[in-house]
Amino acid sequence: MTGAASRAAMSDIYDPKFVKAVFDRCSDRYITFSLICSFGFTERWRRQCVAAMPALSTETANGYDLMAGTGEVWPHLLKRFDRIKAVTAVDISSGMHRRAMERLHAHRAHRIEFIEDDLLASDLPSESADFVVSTFGLKTFNPEQHARLAALIARVLKPGGVFSMIEASDPKGWWLRPLYLFHLKVVLPLVERTLLRGAQDFSMIGTYSTNFGSAAALAAMLRSHGLEVEYSKYFFGCATGVAGRRPARG
Ligand SMILES: C[S@@+](CC[C@H](N)C(=O)[O-])C[C@H]1O[C@@H](n2cnc3c(N)ncnc32)[C@H](O)[C@@H]1O
Repeated sequence: MTGAASRAAMSDIYDPKFVKAVFDRCSDRYITFSLICSFGFTERWRRQCVAAMPALSTETANGYDLMAGTGEVWPHLLKRFDRIKAVTAVDISSGMHRRAMERLHAHRAHRIEFIEDDLLASDLPSESADFVVSTFGLKTFNPEQHARLAALIARVLKPGGVFSMIEASDPKGWWLRPLYLFHLKVVLPLVERTLLRGAQDFSMIGTYSTNFGSAAALAAMLRSHGLEVEYSKYFFGCATGVAGRRPARG
């Protein structure tokens, strides 16, 4: 059994401490691995996630990038909404954040803040965000944790605030699904083992993605908190997303 596989067998793979350790170990190689092994799809999906976000109700907005990791969505976000005042990146992994600082902090430092926080036990202030964005951070949560995340997003959004989130998903019903799963569960671990000489941490991403299924359940949870939600599939369901807004006060 590989290092990560045996660690996973002995642990709850949805325990925030376990997830943090996976991403701390992955952080140095995350950007390259994510771009190359998805054939550029992750970048395209981040852009589509930002494009799906409804227009901001204020030009000089403040908001959160949840599970921000290495801050890969910031260029897309700040390009579409160039008047955004501040993005507060929230992540449990200081390793991912350190990488983000090296790569992006220099020229965006005045608009990026960071909070190291476990979002499943977060006391981010209520009605503090004009927007919430999140890319590829949903899969390491189980359904009960998604319910907590939905409640958090509904609480932190200001009335009229908007959100968009996206995640790699299981394209059930697509005739090329077996090939896609082969890529996730066989090719990616092999690439990591041979080229990156890694501890097989990225192989966990295949397991997380297929367990996740799609963002449909999260859409229902967000609606149950009174948010207006649109659910979307990207590239035959290989990614799914939710976008919408908290209704403004009448
Ligand atoms: C796959 S990375 C996504 C990073 C980035 N948003 C992107 O587009 O590539 C998932 C991130 O979620 C973070 N994360 C996982 N569980 C978390 C939690 N409970 N609270 C805060 N961040 C968490 C991880 O540390 C990791 O940086």
